[in-house]
Amino acid sequence: MSQATNQSWGGRFSEPTDAFVERFTASVSFDQRLAAQDIRGSMAHATMLARVGVLTDDEREAIVTGLSEIRDEIERGEFQWSVPLEDVHMNIEARLTDKIGITGKKLHTGRSRNDQVATDIRLFMRDAIDAIEVELIRLREGMVALADREADTIMPGFTHLQTAQPVTFGHHLLAWQEMLARDHERLLDCRKRVNVMPLGAAALAGTTYPIDRHVTAELLGFNRPAENSLDAVSDRDFAIEFVSFASILLMHMSRMSEELVLWTSAQFDFIDLPDRFCTGSSIMPQKKNPDVPELVRGKTGRVYGHLMGLLTLMKSQPLAYNKDNQEDKEPLFDAVDTVGDCLKAFADMVPAIEPKKVNMFEAARKGFSTATDLADYLVRKGVAFRDAHEIVGESVAYGLKEEKDLSEMSLDELRQFSQVIESDVFEVLTLEGSVAARNHIGGTAPDQVRAAAQRAREALAVLKDQA
Ligand code: ARG
Repeated sequence: MSQATNQSWGGRFSEPTDAFVERFTASVSFDQRLAAQDIRGSMAHATMLARVGVLTDDEREAIVTGLSEIRDEIERGEFQWSVPLEDVHMNIEARLTDKIGITGKKLHTGRSRNDQVATDIRLFMRDAIDAIEVELIRLREGMVALADREADTIMPGFTHLQTAQPVTFGHHLLAWQEMLARDHERLLDCRKRVNVMPLGAAALAGTTYPIDRHVTAELLGFNRPAENSLDAVSDRDFAIEFVSFASILLMHMSRMSEELVLWTSAQFDFIDLPDRFCTGSSIMPQKKNPDVPELVRGKTGRVYGHLMGLLTLMKSQPLAYNKDNQEDKEPLFDAVDTVGDCLKAFADMVPAIEPKKVNMFEAARKGFSTATDLADYLVRKGVAFRDAHEIVGESVAYGLKEEKDLSEMSLDELRQFSQVIESDVFEVLTLEGSVAARNHIGGTAPDQVRAAAQRAREALAVLKDQA
């Protein structure tokens, strides 16, 4: 057999694998991305085997040195990946034996590719989660800073995408920030279940060698060894949990994106996005398109697809490992890349959003956004809320006919609808008065927005310390 042929099961077989089947079953084209984690896991495994006396110290030394040279070869792009060697694990092991001879063949003592690959993916996901957390924190910090800056900026708040009540732009941004805070919790919660070590489960039942799984877990920074060997090799919950975190995060980011796209349109004209986040049209010279939020909105779909793909992959799988599980990697890698890119794009872009304050204010002035304030005013003067609602409804109908906002009506005009209205009504009919009056925790009053931004900053500082 040639060096490039997979010999790991050769003994039992009387004919070589069909050439197409070899390509069909190989995963090296995509799982080579796990090389660094695979080498880390193998070094820890060899070290543990030496500690318990299964390998000699010299054997361990040769294996670790060989593996670190292989890591360098891979980093320099010199490593020859071979499809007949099927996957990242056997490619690296074959190269190790090539370099250090028979000792290389001892590395696989007391383990299987089943616990090996499950360990590699978990190490990979831990690194990916930590990198994603850095970008998520950067985005949240930028959003909170912008919210603080825009605590006094008035815009219309919407329900049914119809003007409802005035809010502050800072308050709107902090609503986004709350979504991200929950996503952050989900990410850290997922990390806890990622950080459990399958190694030692071997093929499915454990191994007859006197391994010490606590040593390996500690060397690799895992919280603990997985409790049950059958579960350890077959569990991919952590992958589904990560992609479900990613789906919910991108669902949130698609909502933000949708609003950014609307706000940059000529019809809303609430914000400007710097040119560096936009593109032009090859045919319409006037166009400036909000491509970044549009693309984030679009990429949400492919991550939802990966979630469905992984759930379906695991559906009805009998214990323990099945070759199906090889299909977990591509959706997982793509979800990691997509989330990382979307977060980076947003973390760069959000602090550069330029609100067009006059347009926002004018939009809030249209659409009778202080109608609820007038009703609340009437209630304070002793009118029952339902009656107040009716009175304000009539005032709005009048305003529509006369093309006047409530705040533009004279006292006499307003008193046509209720005699309890006095000149102090104008304090509540202004947009500033309206937002300032919602002065409780969670409300849109500028002082509350500043206080909420401060709390968010403190919570982020704690998370950053722990990261
Ligand atoms: N390439 C395989 C995977 O990604 C590694 C485990 C293979 N195990 C096996 N028994 N064929 O799942």
